[in-house]
Amino acid sequence: MSDQSLLSARHLRKMYGARLGCTDVSFDLHEGEVLAVVGESGSGKSTLLSLLSTELEPTAGSVHYRFRTGETRDLASLSEAERRFLLRTDWGFVRQDAREGLRMGVSAGGNVGERLMAVGERHYGQIRGKAIDWLTRVEIEEARVDDMPGSFSGGMRQRLQIARNLVTHPRIVFMDEPTSGLDVSVQARLLDLIRGLVSDLGLAVIIVTHDLAVARLLSHRTMVMRGGRVVETGLTDQVLDDPQDAYTQLLVSSVLPA
Ligand SMILES: Nc1ncnc2c1ncn2[C@@H]1O[C@H](COP(=O)(O)OP(=O)(O)OP(=O)(O)O)[C@@H](O)[C@H]1O
Ligand SMILES: [Mg+2]
Repeated sequence: MSDQSLLSARHLRKMYGARLGCTDVSFDLHEGEVLAVVGESGSGKSTLLSLLSTELEPTAGSVHYRFRTGETRDLASLSEAERRFLLRTDWGFVRQDAREGLRMGVSAGGNVGERLMAVGERHYGQIRGKAIDWLTRVEIEEARVDDMPGSFSGGMRQRLQIARNLVTHPRIVFMDEPTSGLDVSVQARLLDLIRGLVSDLGLAVIIVTHDLAVARLLSHRTMVMRGGRVVETGLTDQVLDDPQDAYTQLLVSSVLPA
């Protein structure tokens, strides 16, 4: 792992029984860097994200993370309590299906406030104030603060998920297809919002997408996966404008279905 790396994966492999999830995935993610992981359905993108965020245990390989203290640890060595703390503080996870990333039985304000309470905030007025501030930042009106996420549109739920994840100022946000399933115009606004927040907050992001336009808009680097393996990786502009791998060339020329 280089000095600058925030997260570093080496030879990650995941087998689901006899089926390959992903194999031999290695990369370094630097502070403030946005990495897009692209590839067709079943290429191992979500599997990789789950390994990085410790939701799945790798069959082989390792992930190292540099803590705010400067200490670098192998994620496999973390206790359950340490792992949970990371997931509540340093890391965020924006899911494709907002219902999995939100607590649907808790109000919009509660969804954001809950993360603050998880990091020790106790003052009700301050929590509510910060929650409203974040709702506003993701363009949800203050008047909706006590509404349940079930009464929100798909795009609003996704924005609420983003507010819930960013309120604790994480260092890395994992996003799995955060804009798919939304109308094209809603997608575009959401992408703009994400792009603005990521650059304002200097977040490191790993975003899984099958949409090359999303990779182009948001990411510095792109990693292309196929059949569980990385087939190409590099600066996004280079990968998309001058792909070296035959599969990436097909992907870029839109010959393959998304
Ligand atoms: N829980 C599981 N049990 C068994 N096999 C799994 C499981 N999850 C994923 N797989 C398999 O691992 C491979 C990679 O799946 P993964 O979900 O990581 O792909 P993906 O790139 O995220 O696809 P999509 O774009 O459709 O979300 C596939 O062959 C899939 O069938
Ligand atoms: Mg997936």
